Amino acid sequence: MMATRVVSGPDGVAAAVALLRAGEPVALPTETVYGLGAAALDPLACAKVFEAKARPLDDPLIVHLPDATWLDRLTMVGELPRALARAFWPGPLTLVLPAQPVVPAIVTAGQRTVAVRMSAHPVFREVAEEFGQPIAAPSANRFGRISPTMAAHVVTELGGRIPLVLDGGSCAHGIESTIVQVCDDTLRILRHGPVTREELARFGSLAARDGGPAAPGGMASHYAPRTPLDILPAGSEPTGRAGEGLLAWTRGGEGFDRTEILSPTGDLREAAARLFGAMRRLDEAGLDRIVAESVPDTGLGAAIMERLRKAAAR
Ligand code: TXA
Ligand code: MG
Repeated sequence: MMATRVVSGPDGVAAAVALLRAGEPVALPTETVYGLGAAALDPLACAKVFEAKARPLDDPLIVHLPDATWLDRLTMVGELPRALARAFWPGPLTLVLPAQPVVPAIVTAGQRTVAVRMSAHPVFREVAEEFGQPIAAPSANRFGRISPTMAAHVVTELGGRIPLVLDGGSCAHGIESTIVQVCDDTLRILRHGPVTREELARFGSLAARDGGPAAPGGMASHYAPRTPLDILPAGSEPTGRAGEGLLAWTRGGEGFDRTEILSPTGDLREAAARLFGAMRRLDEAGLDRIVAESVPDTGLGAAIMERLRKAAAR
């Protein structure tokens, strides 16, 4: 076990950059969730990310670009991805595009495509600019578990396995970026996220079906608490019993030992930002079952429901 340091401020940024240069992985804040970053063009550094997360090597990594000029260096881009990058970067949109040969196979898991995005988090941007190289960063959790939205969550997940966590506060969005595969003028949503289906539809036609074999993280079970979680059908009243916890949408229900309310005012943004923290607290409460209410399936609600369905799959 190595000691995991939690740092912040300018010294923290400098320590993170020094480790990235030395080929070591470091946990970094992004506007979506915390990422476990490593030098993307250094296969050995990327291997340490897979090792720390216990992530299977067939699950490719997202590459975070220091600036948009890297788009042409790492991918083969047409007009549509360029327009999407102009509209949403820096921000929570990941584009899956044909990869240039310079991208290591460990990053793409041997596929012809690479996933790229540019983070908007000011601390991440400082690190990326100072490092000056692309950073491969999956979410900073053990494989298959709940993504971390605070530095303390990263320590719970990866403490003793990584040298450094750069603390940049709570993540604004709280759920992972939207992933879109661009094929000619069609967009296929591989993972729902903060950039919504409605926003994307303005840029091209959306594939009839979301997901697909190209998304290994598209496997059924993911973001999973250890406690069994079941989704309550939309419209039914939540009633619980001893040993059960409720992940509620706007208000509590009868009979639950513990309740976490996602948004008292019914705000999907707030609900997304609170989702993983609330799930983690319920998971740590020693319950034998978590009941999750459905949220409206429009806008950001699609991303929240996708996370709940994956947490419920077992
Ligand atoms: O918001 C985010 O995207 C966060 C922060 C840290 O940037 N990152 C993140 O990474 O969620 P990760 O590894 O937990 O999820 C990335 C997903 C995985 O399900 C992976 O299979 C998929 O992206 N992916 C990566 N490269 C891909 C590719 N070339 N084709 C299809 N899917 C890809
Ligand atoms: Mg993840």
